Amino acid sequence: MWLFLNNSYVEKEQASISPFDRGFLFSDGVYDVVRYYPQSGYFQTQAHLNRLSYGLDQLQIRGIETERIGDIINELLQRNGQTKAQAIAYIQVTRGAPYPRQHFFPPASTPPTLLITTTPFKPHTEEIEKGVRVLVEDDIRWLRCDIKTIALLPNILSRQHAVEQEACETIWTRNGVITEGTHTNFCAVKDGILLTHPRSNLILSGITRQVVLDMCVRLNIPCQEVPIRFSDIGDLDECLIIGTTTEITPVVKVAETTISDGKPGSITKKLQKEFYSIIL
Ligand code: PDD
Repeated sequence: MWLFLNNSYVEKEQASISPFDRGFLFSDGVYDVVRYYPQSGYFQTQAHLNRLSYGLDQLQIRGIETERIGDIINELLQRNGQTKAQAIAYIQVTRGAPYPRQHFFPPASTPPTLLITTTPFKPHTEEIEKGVRVLVEDDIRWLRCDIKTIALLPNILSRQHAVEQEACETIWTRNGVITEGTHTNFCAVKDGILLTHPRSNLILSGITRQVVLDMCVRLNIPCQEVPIRFSDIGDLDECLIIGTTTEITPVVKVAETTISDGKPGSITKKLQKEFYSIIL
């Protein structure tokens, strides 16, 4: 398998990273994930690259030409023979590998580390069709969840709890409000209105989230970016988790609470239909 590391295409077995890389030592970096569909190509590449640029800017990591990344992920798909099935491109940038280890920023001349991989991806067809159960935990993350940093320990722990309890995802609450999932944004439907957490420092501004909000406008589904209180969970008509890997997945059970009749709701299905008409 070929990957792209700094300025070269290398075989996975030949790729190596310095032990002083600040991604390894400090999680000092950002990443993004783009989905590839053979029918329509990479989905929303520019939006993902814009978010990556935003994260780099917020962390003041300089020296990455994000405009080149589209060509690199295309080249990797070709080299890896992955153009005919679904795949995921993973892009990670760290603040480079200066020596010695020090918390503060290295000299501006230190090149950042850029890693890009493409990997085959199997769609979660059954979950998307039947719906899933999610767990609920406290959101213990920092207050800059708008940056897609590679520091993902809270996400890893909460996702692991979901796996252990045979749930699909864990959604988080902060001060009684549902923020998002470990790798998804959360939406609900109440009285025909799609609700989702406002864009803020408390959530990642998901690319799929924006696609869903845009689809709502096209489909005349009213939507509101408002806090969803966890205490109202039993009164919601539909719940869904959305994201690059999850697409639009109905949530039919939140912890022990069944949502409506325990089946995917009509607005969720409308959104799914529209979504797949774009990408497949
Ligand atoms: N995660 N919220 C969080 C915390 C996420 O990590 C993600 C995506 C999302 C959805 O964003 P998008 O629609 O842009 O994929 C929301 C990626 C897929 C990951 O960590 O692999």
